[in-house]
Amino acid sequence: MIQTNYLIIGSGVAGLTFAVKIAERFPDKKVTIVTKANENESNTRYAQGGIAIVTDKIEDSYQKHIQDTLICGDGLCDESVVEMVITEGPKRLKELIEWGAKFDKNTQGTLDLGKEGGHSENRVVHHKDQTGQEIQRAILSQVHQKENITVLDYHLALDLITENNKCLGAYVLDQKTKEVLSFQSEYTLLATGGIGHLYGHTTNPVIATGDGIAMASRANAVIKEMEFIQFHPTALYDASTGTSFLISEAVRGFGAYLRTKNGHRFMPDYDSRGDLASRDIVSQSIDLERKKTGDDCVYLDCTHLDLDGFIKHFPMIYERCKSVGIDIAKDWIPVVPAQHYLCGGIVVDKNGKTSVENLFSCGECSRTGLHGANRLASNSLLEALVYSDKIYHYLADTSLEKTPFIGTVSDWKLTSKPEINPDYVAKTKANLQLLMRQNAGIVRNDADLIKAKKQLSHWKNEVEEQLKSHNVNAELYELQNMITIGLLIVQQSIERDENRGGLVKINAK
Ligand code: FAD
Ligand code: SIN
Repeated sequence: MIQTNYLIIGSGVAGLTFAVKIAERFPDKKVTIVTKANENESNTRYAQGGIAIVTDKIEDSYQKHIQDTLICGDGLCDESVVEMVITEGPKRLKELIEWGAKFDKNTQGTLDLGKEGGHSENRVVHHKDQTGQEIQRAILSQVHQKENITVLDYHLALDLITENNKCLGAYVLDQKTKEVLSFQSEYTLLATGGIGHLYGHTTNPVIATGDGIAMASRANAVIKEMEFIQFHPTALYDASTGTSFLISEAVRGFGAYLRTKNGHRFMPDYDSRGDLASRDIVSQSIDLERKKTGDDCVYLDCTHLDLDGFIKHFPMIYERCKSVGIDIAKDWIPVVPAQHYLCGGIVVDKNGKTSVENLFSCGECSRTGLHGANRLASNSLLEALVYSDKIYHYLADTSLEKTPFIGTVSDWKLTSKPEINPDYVAKTKANLQLLMRQNAGIVRNDADLIKAKKQLSHWKNEVEEQLKSHNVNAELYELQNMITIGLLIVQQSIERDENRGGLVKINAK
């Protein structure tokens, strides 16, 4: 058994930011980050557009950003959370800059502010089209400077250890030695990110399998609003791949238009904000257009834009298009919606506390009340930065008073069993992804959801049996987690009998 004062599961913006702050505040305490792949692999790393923060107080205001967030959230945001997160933005940005993160400037030497769907003003601070990579680089360099932080990469958290609704730590698989380590912690933070690979067609990297939410669910934590899956309208269309390269919404903020194959600019038919309507509306409109025309994709037209300016702002997108034979100066980019973000998750209060004692959560796996039924673009990195800071402040006070390490953590009982057949896992995962795309996509209906629930319950029982009768296997655990997440999405979609934000059901009231 390994003791650590703070056990952090996940090394995206949420987990890393908390780690740096708590390690600095308590240099004598042990901070351990476990992360299931390379330390820099995360959704964070792929973030393109940037961070929505009010920095220009002449054209923009907190009130405008708050209103945009509330409109996007379609009546389900917690207004006090929205206000708290948005007004903290400038302080969190200052901190990132102090840690060495670089953000693009304009010719006047002030921050260059991008625009994305649902925003009434330009307010998105960014580093070209690689904002996530830049902030992760800066925060990781701070992590590496702290002697009391240990980063354990290729360590997959399997389950939380709980007793009487208190979290005592977690079981973690060292994927290189195949050993299961038991961690006892004073406080545990779930910062495990998104769920994209449940759908297969997603902008998320393969680590996004909803592990933290599934672990929290097994520990009986309250989980809410899982029906609000955000589909990004513009993933590069490639019929052959699952993981979809994102064409940032900032490209439409830069002036690109959506068109059908025959050239019709359809977004003004659906919303007065046109191409810059909120993400739920743009994805739903593309879905309708595809059904109407029978086309596989729609197109993003950048041909009228200033090419040099485009390349300066979006070098990665430009190169990626070029690599697949698309010259954005002449060709329209084929795009389709793809799963991108989960608005709901593990319910936390304003200090990031879950319903399980000593268990905290922040970032994409948490549900704070900021996003409601649909997240406003570029509010996710902001939320992770603000909540990791809130948890830090809460624990900086609490940790002084507490007697550490409650309860007894027993070692994982390891017995030798057969290895799982990898074909079984791969096949079930592919079937699961197809089931979710077909029955829990942009437009749903109760009959399909009920059918999907039945199949998911069957897989849940089957995989539980496989787990009992085989050696511990990372992919089998991830499969179990994805099935758990699928059940939460389907069940909560059935329970919500209305169309709101990211949830459209054809038979809803
Ligand atoms: P992540 O960054 O996903 O980190 C999760 C970490 O947990 C990873 O290190 C992972 O390996 C680890 N992990 C998961 N399960 C386990 C386990 N069982 N054991 C151990 N470790 C585990 N948001 C914006 O605000 N602005 C943007 O411009 C933007 N662009 C985006 C572009 C793309 C392509 C994508 C995919 C997302 C984008 N988002 C954007 C969303 C945003 O990037 C994410 O919501 C945010 O980065 C999530 O941060 P996080 O720390 O919560 O999770
Ligand atoms: C994008 O750049 O379009 C993604 C922004 C986000 O997910 O907030």
